[in-house]
Amino acid sequence: MWSLFGGDKNKLVGIDIGTSGIKVVELEHSPSLREVYLKNYALVGFKENLPQKERERRITKEEIVELLKATLTQGKIKTKNASFSIPSFSSFLSFVTMPRVRPEDLKKAITIEAQKFIPVSLEEVVLGWEVIDEPEGKDISNIRDQNKMKVLLLAVPRDIVNRYKEIANACGLKLQNLEVEAFPLLRSLTQNYQKTFVIVDIDSRVCNLLVVSGGSLRGARNIGLGGDDLTEILVRSINIDYDRAEELKKEEGFHNKQVAELFVPVLGNVIDEVKRVISMYKSKNPNKEIDEIILSGGTADLKGLVDLFTSKLNLPTVVGDPWKKLTIDEQVKKAVVERGTTFSISIGLALKNE
Ligand SMILES: Nc1ncnc2c1ncn2[C@@H]1O[C@H](COP(=O)(O)OP(=O)(O)OP(=O)(O)O)[C@@H](O)[C@H]1O
Ligand SMILES: [Mg+2]
Repeated sequence: MWSLFGGDKNKLVGIDIGTSGIKVVELEHSPSLREVYLKNYALVGFKENLPQKERERRITKEEIVELLKATLTQGKIKTKNASFSIPSFSSFLSFVTMPRVRPEDLKKAITIEAQKFIPVSLEEVVLGWEVIDEPEGKDISNIRDQNKMKVLLLAVPRDIVNRYKEIANACGLKLQNLEVEAFPLLRSLTQNYQKTFVIVDIDSRVCNLLVVSGGSLRGARNIGLGGDDLTEILVRSINIDYDRAEELKKEEGFHNKQVAELFVPVLGNVIDEVKRVISMYKSKNPNKEIDEIILSGGTADLKGLVDLFTSKLNLPTVVGDPWKKLTIDEQVKKAVVERGTTFSISIGLALKNE
């Protein structure tokens, strides 16, 4: 449903263009579709350790194209079918409850509904949706309010879609899918489809909070706070330069008392949002419990973060492992372990083959 373009090939490249760099994964789906092999992967950073605002200002489309070409070369990636992720802050995502309609009337009803939720003209966006309380078959007797339906609505500005088309073209790639990053994230990090959990994905400048149940997205929120903000706090509070602050953050994290004292209040804001997302989900689904928290994104590797989440939320917290779904050669296995969870989005993109 979220695929904006068609196509079905066995080899796929997933491309996640983040603020810190480009992450690319090439996967091959077995003919039976039972196994997915890791062919290649690569991560190339933009000019390392440039302060966040400086970096955002400087990264042009041309630079992205250059760096993407370099990343594909480094990863020895020959496959042309590529899917890209769209940052959550570049899209509109909402869960709406609307009058239940017949499937043939859905498109029209959704378009009318979307006008209420999307703050720009529908002409300027590409719309996507998913009915999230659709029962198996035609039986709707187990749905609480049979006159209403819950729909996940998504809109991506056309100019963003065009930008990715241009980047793909300039790199000689065939654009397969464009997906808002919530979807590849939940695809690569859902191991157990029976569980209800919250993915906390903390990247450079943004944090995605996703409630997942039965393998589907049930709640989403993003916060304009990321790992780079933690680095900036060290720069300002301890009066060190950006490189040193980044090093201190990555090497010591919460194991350093001064760093821990500075980070706790900031990450407390993320934890408060997680609590809010959980209580909102539970108010609508009183019979459901949250089983665990899954951390993802570069900041998930911050030393001591798992313990902080476990203690403040009183829920089991783990760092997500998107590589678990892949069949990987012994030689590359070790390197992959060190890459951790940074590739969650690019893996999720290339896992989609429908
Ligand atoms: N070991 C580590 N400890 C703490 N932070 C880390 C570690 N490794 C990476 N980071 C931080 O993770 C962030 C980069 O994460 P990621 O690659 O997920 O971001 P991105 O996708 O480039 O950003 P965005 O999606 O926000 O544009 C940076 O802020 C970086 O400092
Ligand atoms: Mg990212």
